[in-house]
Amino acid sequence: MHLQCVLMVLFFCAVAGQAPVVSVEPRAATVRKGESVSFRCSVKLTDSSNSRPLEVQWKKANNQALPDNVKVGPDGSVLTIANAVPGNHGQYRCVASSSAGRGTANVMLTVKYAPKVRLTPSGPLRVRIGDPVSVECRAQGRPQPTLTWKRQGSTLQLVTTEANDVNTITDSGVYICLSENTEGMTEAKIEIIVERELGAPVASVSPTEITAVEGHIVTIECQASGSPPPVITWSKLRAPLPWKHTVVGGVLTLSSVGRQDSGQYICNATNIHGYSEAYTDMEVETPPYTTILPDQVRLQPGDALQLQCLAHGTHPIDLTWSRVGRPSLPPGTETTKGGKLLITKVKQSDSGTYKCVATNHIGSSEATTRVVIRRELDLS
Ligand SMILES: *[C@@H]1O[C@H](CO)[C@@H](O)[C@H](O)[C@H]1NC(C)=O
Repeated sequence: MHLQCVLMVLFFCAVAGQAPVVSVEPRAATVRKGESVSFRCSVKLTDSSNSRPLEVQWKKANNQALPDNVKVGPDGSVLTIANAVPGNHGQYRCVASSSAGRGTANVMLTVKYAPKVRLTPSGPLRVRIGDPVSVECRAQGRPQPTLTWKRQGSTLQLVTTEANDVNTITDSGVYICLSENTEGMTEAKIEIIVERELGAPVASVSPTEITAVEGHIVTIECQASGSPPPVITWSKLRAPLPWKHTVVGGVLTLSSVGRQDSGQYICNATNIHGYSEAYTDMEVETPPYTTILPDQVRLQPGDALQLQCLAHGTHPIDLTWSRVGRPSLPPGTETTKGGKLLITKVKQSDSGTYKCVATNHIGSSEATTRVVIRRELDLS
C-alpha cells in the first residue's frame, strides 16, 4: 500500500507542467512544381488541467519567413503550400507553446522540377584555333539532373575531359548542353566561332551520318579548302581504322564493314596555317546470329525441358520457336519473348528437333537443338 502511493505521486509530478506533444501528418511529401500539398499539425496536451493557453505556429526550419504561397490555416494547425515552387523545398516546423513549454515536429517537403540550365559565358564565343575553350554548363533541378554536351547536327556526345566543359573545339558551330531529370529535359545553346588564319584548312565530310549493313562497302568523302592545299588524314575515335580500308585523295573506303567498325570517323585536314577536323558517325547493322542453350538434351518422361534461344545483332530481334517436321509445338509448351521455351513435364512424344528463328530488319537466322526423351531402362 505504501509503495503504491509513492508511485502515484511520482507519476503526477512527471505529468504536471509537461510541454505539449506535437505530431505532424504527413511527415514528408514530394510534389511537382505547381502542385499543392498540406501538412497537419496535432497537439496532445498531457497536462491534466488542460486549461493553459496554447499557441500553434508553423515556421521554416531555418527560421526564414514563410514564402507568399505558403499559408497557415486559422487555428494554426494546417500548413498549405499552393502551387509549389522550387524555393519551397525544405523542412518546416510546427511549434506548439504553452506556459509549460514548447513542443516541435518537423516535416520535409521535396519539390521536384525540370532542370534549369545556365551557360557561362552565354553569348557567341570567338576563339582562335588551338586556343582552349571552356564553357561551363550549370544545371539546377530535382532530382539531380544529368549533363551532356552535344554538337548541333551530331548525335554523338562530345568527349569532354571535365564533366562540364567543352574542350578541344576546332570547328565553328552551335554546341548544346543537355540537362535531364525525371521532370523533363532542358537545353542551352552556345555558338562558338573558330577564327582561322587566312588559308587555314576547313574540312567537311559527306555523308555525316551513315547506317550500313554488315558486309557492305562504305565510302566517306572528305573535302578541304585551304592554301596551301591541306593534307588529309583519316582516323577513328578511340580505335585504329579497320584494317580493310583504303584512302585515296581524301576518300576513305571501308570494304566489308562489321559491327565493330561502328563509331566516329575523323577527317583531319592540315597545312602550315592550322588544321580542321570533320566527323562522320557510322552505325553498322547486322542480321541476327542465333544459338540455343543447351544444344542437346536427354530427358526422361516427366522431366522439365527448358531451352534458351540467344541472338546477337541489331535490335529489335524477334525470336520464334517451332519443331522441325511438325506443324506446331507440343500442347502446353510455353514460350517467352525473351526466347525461353518451357515444357514442365515432357512426354516421350515431345522428342524431336526444336528450332529457333531470329529475325530483325536486316535478315534472319536459325538454330536447332535435338531433344531426346526416353525412359531409362532399369538394368539392375
Ligand atoms: C589533326 O591534326 C592536328 C595537327 O597535326 C593534330 O594536332 C590533331 O590532334 C589531329 N586530330 C586528330 C583527331 O587526329
